[in-house]
Amino acid sequence: MHPTTDHVLALLLAGNFLSGEELAHTHSISRAAIWKHIAELRSLGFTIEAITGKGYKLVDCPDTMHQALVHREYTPRRLGKSIDYLEECASTNAVLKQVAERSMGGCGGLVIVSDRQTAGRGRRGRTWSAASGEALLFSVLLYPPFPPSRLHGITLLAGVAVVEALASFGVEVSLKWPNDVYLDGRKLCGILAETSAELDHTNYVVLGIGLNVSGHPTALDQESTDLSRAGVRPKRAALLARILASLEDNYELYLDEQLEFIHSKWRRYSHTLGRRVTAYTLQGEYSGIARDISSEGALIITLDSGEEKIVTAGDVTVRQQEVR
Ligand code: BTN
Repeated sequence: MHPTTDHVLALLLAGNFLSGEELAHTHSISRAAIWKHIAELRSLGFTIEAITGKGYKLVDCPDTMHQALVHREYTPRRLGKSIDYLEECASTNAVLKQVAERSMGGCGGLVIVSDRQTAGRGRRGRTWSAASGEALLFSVLLYPPFPPSRLHGITLLAGVAVVEALASFGVEVSLKWPNDVYLDGRKLCGILAETSAELDHTNYVVLGIGLNVSGHPTALDQESTDLSRAGVRPKRAALLARILASLEDNYELYLDEQLEFIHSKWRRYSHTLGRRVTAYTLQGEYSGIARDISSEGALIITLDSGEEKIVTAGDVTVRQQEVR
């Protein structure tokens, strides 16, 4: 969207009638140019009433994630000051990685959000598919001032942030290690943090989140679910705003080195700890009881042999019954 169109939208979102003359004056452009921006907004699905002598009034908004719609819901401090909304892209993570490579330390907090992805990426080299126009798919560019050994905090805080944002809509979800978000035993949201780092220096982190909102890839898929199953259907701009606000709060805790606080919240929201799990790692499969997470965010499992296994990377399946 043209920056002026975005600004016209921000003014219309205030809710009052705005005359073409006022808008033209604010932007130092002609009334005919303002009409073009109004026409662009209408073509994007915004319903705008025009009454002679009164001006333009926004009546209804589409379920899109233009910056002005997201900023109506929260005032960013560091994440999402700039939001690029794309109708389609290969992967928001891939787009943002290109931006990060080009901008050499700039664009921190930039968000790329897309209606659909043609090559969505999942954890461990998997693909991520989502129902077109029915999911929230976005990535945030972060420059954490910590070495790679402390990046696990971002993985954990992202899951915590999603849980807390959804709680504000009255939806209770839980976390499967490390950060899958589950609703009623099915996956609702996946998180992928991609990193560029040297041994002792992090160049950047692209944090990508995919949340099924009003549909999930295959309705018959027993493994996944969407937010509408919990009886809520927020507009995606409002959902993005709450998640970004919550991410920002938790990211600031992380920057403030309050990792133990993030860990304690993760434990509280976890649906893994105290349950029988099987971890699938590059070294092999391990079954036992998930006891805790370590200070490095690894999963500590007490194996059936009584031995303790620390799993730093892998997939986990969880038995529903709690054994703690
Ligand atoms: C997982 O495997 O659970 C992680 C899925 C992460 C998907 C999101 S959708 C937005 C962002 N862009 C991507 O290509 N992947 C992440």
